[in-house]
Amino acid sequence: MTGLSDIFNRPINYLRVSVTDRCNLRCSYCMPAQGIRLLSHDDILSYEEIATVARVAAEMGINKLRLTGGEPLVRARLADLVAMIAKIETIDDISLTTNGVLLQEYAPELKKAGLKRVNVSLDTLNPDKFQRITHYRNLDEVLQGIKAARDCGLEPVKINVVVMRGVNDDEILDFARLTIKDGWHVRFIELMPFATENPHEGHATRSRADLHPQFMPAKEIMERLHSLGKLESSDTMKGNGPARYYRFPKSTGTVGFITPVSEHFCIHCNRLRLTAEGKLRPCLLSDEEIDLRPALRQGAPSQKIRQLITEAIQTKPRNHHLAQETVAIKRRMSQVGG
Ligand code: 5AD
Ligand code: SF4
Repeated sequence: MTGLSDIFNRPINYLRVSVTDRCNLRCSYCMPAQGIRLLSHDDILSYEEIATVARVAAEMGINKLRLTGGEPLVRARLADLVAMIAKIETIDDISLTTNGVLLQEYAPELKKAGLKRVNVSLDTLNPDKFQRITHYRNLDEVLQGIKAARDCGLEPVKINVVVMRGVNDDEILDFARLTIKDGWHVRFIELMPFATENPHEGHATRSRADLHPQFMPAKEIMERLHSLGKLESSDTMKGNGPARYYRFPKSTGTVGFITPVSEHFCIHCNRLRLTAEGKLRPCLLSDEEIDLRPALRQGAPSQKIRQLITEAIQTKPRNHHLAQETVAIKRRMSQVGG
């Protein structure tokens, strides 16, 4: 294994693979209620094609891989893909980001196929609000999904909460209590307001992300938590990403913070993204992409795929500018997988 790094000397060892742009929810900050134009079946990479990319990337030094979407569990037989990736010896961590709706059904077979752990996106514990945010009725399915994942050892299960002022900031303490009472691992994520959410789709609004009315900085979230006790720094949860972790005294669960806006973590960015239609995307917040699909479909030798991966890594930008302006990216979050 050679070990990969970009032109800023950041080690790159983590690949996030979006397996579909489809989703069974319509979270307001991610997808418009009417949906988006979806890719057709022929457009998206087959599991064999994804596994080929994973194999070449693994030879180059990628050792962690996460499956995302859209919602990855709406793609048929996802466990088959997990099993194919689990066969790649040098990949030692396979994880999944899901909205949890289908987790109860699939958790056991995913575990059996070799999945290590899951992150579940859940922004509210209130059934009515869940319906309002996601345009879907059944919060209980998600809660059952989380339980099923924990029961079959897809651990640690991390719960991702995007905090939106005036929407769910009144539940910060409820989520935090679950880290004490039920050993949950909750991560509060700062809302990244994308320009694609406003009526002038695709145009930057030039207003700073932290001025968005729903934006709440991690510092303020943390201040709200003081009433539950003193937070201690906790390293035990450190994953592949940028979250900082804490815990309340004696609690088994942890509270994490992900701060893309107030404190960007680009200097530690270790990741590449692969979109469902086979584009390598070096940065979530930049539209620079390298298309792997033609090479994959023409049966190009792995040397060619290797060269394209290297090229993508070399174009990885130093950092994003979310704090200075709302970033206009052409893709919705559901099309890059967060
Ligand atoms: N801002 C912050 N987080 C977001 N996610 C999706 N869209 C946004 C956004 N605009 C989160 C999801 C999920 C992860 C993949 O990305 O909630 O947890
Ligand atoms: Fe990494 Fe780009 Fe996100 Fe920064 S903006 S953390 S470089 S993906």
